[in-house]
Amino acid sequence: MFVLGIESSCDETSASVLEMDEKAGVRRILSNIVASQIDVHAMYGGVVPEIASRAHVEAVSSITYRALEEAGIGAKDLGVVGVTAYPGLIGALLVGVNFSKALAYANGIPLVGVNHIKAHIAAAYLEYPELRPPFLALVVSGGHTSIYSVDRFNEMTELGSTRDDAIGEAFDKIARVLGMPYPGGAALDRLAYEGKEGVLTFPSPALAGDALDFSFSGIKTAALNTINRFVQTGQETPKADIACAYVKTITDAVVKKIRQALNQTGQKSLVMAGGVAANTHLREALGTLCKNKKVNFYVPRPQLCGDNGAMVAAAGYYAYLAGERAGTDLNASAQDDGSPD
Ligand code: KG4
Ligand code: ZN
Repeated sequence: MFVLGIESSCDETSASVLEMDEKAGVRRILSNIVASQIDVHAMYGGVVPEIASRAHVEAVSSITYRALEEAGIGAKDLGVVGVTAYPGLIGALLVGVNFSKALAYANGIPLVGVNHIKAHIAAAYLEYPELRPPFLALVVSGGHTSIYSVDRFNEMTELGSTRDDAIGEAFDKIARVLGMPYPGGAALDRLAYEGKEGVLTFPSPALAGDALDFSFSGIKTAALNTINRFVQTGQETPKADIACAYVKTITDAVVKKIRQALNQTGQKSLVMAGGVAANTHLREALGTLCKNKKVNFYVPRPQLCGDNGAMVAAAGYYAYLAGERAGTDLNASAQDDGSPD
């Protein structure tokens, strides 16, 4: 079956066509076009929702037809259309949702509203054809930091999450204060290798106790205070040492909570997904943890970690197999659970 996925929840407009047949073991990406708006938002230091919506409107149609063309099929050949319906920026989501409704209706194709978080996890199915639930999933992105027990392709339970900022926000904020352009997560990741370990220390974002929760506000404030202290006393800010301590403390906290989650659940497989899953420190540290614990570790290639249509199409396909169908009354929602805004 050919599946079209459309993504417009934040600052990437993307469309992808997959060929999927779970019974025959076929999970193939035929096209995955991503139009990033990063350059547009960089001058403001973050995503401007109104500008994001307008840029999606301009791009969504041509990106979709390019995805179909590259896949060598027409809209009528599609078996299902999946579109990110929640969570995200409401105006941005509405662009993809309304475009998909029109496309599906005009061509008589079933439509499925996709949960963006499930879509990040579904990217791993495309990377690893043998991967199937159950497994533990860590979703780390600009908007989320959560640990899930994934019980079936389309079903998961949240075991823990952040109580305040998301991990991606925490990376981007400090990167910005250190002078890196938005979104600075990847630049901070690289700079951390140039710093000396043990020069600075920051409080751990892993909450104490059995709960699988995080809080990033403390480490963010501590890093900001440290940077301000150097600036106010006229000293040169040791950017690399700050990046090193910051990234290492966050990585250690994630490893701690994932170790705890693996122990508590007894799961034998871990999936890491979301934009921040491109972080090389996290990839290496969780890879080592899983190796030591004899747990299978799955993490998509960096291009499939950030927002993209292929992950949405994959999640849409499994939702379709589970019987989900959306009508022309499908609405977008900014909320994590898709509830009306
Ligand atoms: O999943 P995503 O593309 O969008 C959301 O759904 O939020 O994630 C974007 C986030 C940004 O915060 C970006 O800085 C971060 O992913 N990111 C990274 C790296 N690459 C992207 N954070 C840390 N290290 C990286 N290598
Ligand atoms: Zn995302």
